[in-house]
Amino acid sequence: MLQIKFEQREQLKQKPGQSQLGFGRYFTDYMFSMDYTEEQGWHDAKITPYQNIEMSPASQSIHYGQSVFEGLKAYRIDDGIQLFRPDQNFKRLNQSLARLEMPQIDEAVALEGLKELVKLEQDWVPSEPGQSLYIRPVVFATEPFLGVRPANQYKFLIILSPVGAYYGDGQLLPTKIYVEDEYVRAVRGGVGFAKVAGNYAASLLAQSKAAKLGYDQVLWLDGVEQKYVEEVGSMNIFFVYGNKLVTPALNGSILPGITRKSILELAQSLGYEVEERKIAIEEVFNAAKNGEITEIFGSGTAVVVSPVGEIKYKDEVAVINDFKTGDVTNKLYEIYTSIQNGKVEDTFGWTVKITD
Ligand code: COI
Repeated sequence: MLQIKFEQREQLKQKPGQSQLGFGRYFTDYMFSMDYTEEQGWHDAKITPYQNIEMSPASQSIHYGQSVFEGLKAYRIDDGIQLFRPDQNFKRLNQSLARLEMPQIDEAVALEGLKELVKLEQDWVPSEPGQSLYIRPVVFATEPFLGVRPANQYKFLIILSPVGAYYGDGQLLPTKIYVEDEYVRAVRGGVGFAKVAGNYAASLLAQSKAAKLGYDQVLWLDGVEQKYVEEVGSMNIFFVYGNKLVTPALNGSILPGITRKSILELAQSLGYEVEERKIAIEEVFNAAKNGEITEIFGSGTAVVVSPVGEIKYKDEVAVINDFKTGDVTNKLYEIYTSIQNGKVEDTFGWTVKITD
């Protein structure tokens, strides 16, 4: 049993109104933390008031980017609160940590800390459709040292944020995607599969470029030939060919999304054919224009299932399903979120109830 120290806040915060949540703007009253040193390993597990942290200006994460994170959600159900596949997140966290030569975290310990924190903060879990408590575990180097080598001091934090839709206008409204053919997100042998902070930093220039052209997100192509579709950055991508779902196969440079994996399982159980393979952007464009691709959607913890209404590649634009959310996307969104919200039975064993 993990010993978690507890430091009480003097005054609880005023909670935001549910209609004004947006994504990632508000943070709850408390956070979980642990520290790592070579001598002690991970130690000093505690729940403290959510507050600024002190770090040396020479902390290695600031200079050399040893920083990895996760994203998962807690949902309000009729008789309590539940998490969705948290074991998968902590497993992936360790894979990301390994890639950046950072120390592993005991997954059971991380889960226990998370459960305690969410239990304490259960009043912050919103209840409107499409809303949840977003959970952000993050690990970063704190050792003050300017030499380039793995740090020997780290911090692990879990912070919580009540959220609504990730994209400004609400869930299930089609987005516009710009196919990036100049910059790349990840290369073979790189860190594309890991949830490292630097991957997101590297995406921002292209994201701004797309935004200036009126597009919401960037669709990344492979870093070698710039020919094959990879992911969107905040989500994995699915192409619907009638009754068949096609998504890029995991190749080391694509994030192994937990929503991606769950949607593949769910779709199969509903009788859809699913295919994970290399998909050329030329194929996508031709199939989108001749109607073979009937829908496109993205998947991710933050975005859930998010329809794509338009893609732009070089000078061409393809509008998908008349810029409407398609039936397959709708159905998957409905069933997936109903499992998360406890409205339909979870026959997959994905949900973990955390309240007593
Ligand atoms: C998530 O879906 O949880 C992510 O981490 C994507 C993004 C918000 C960075």
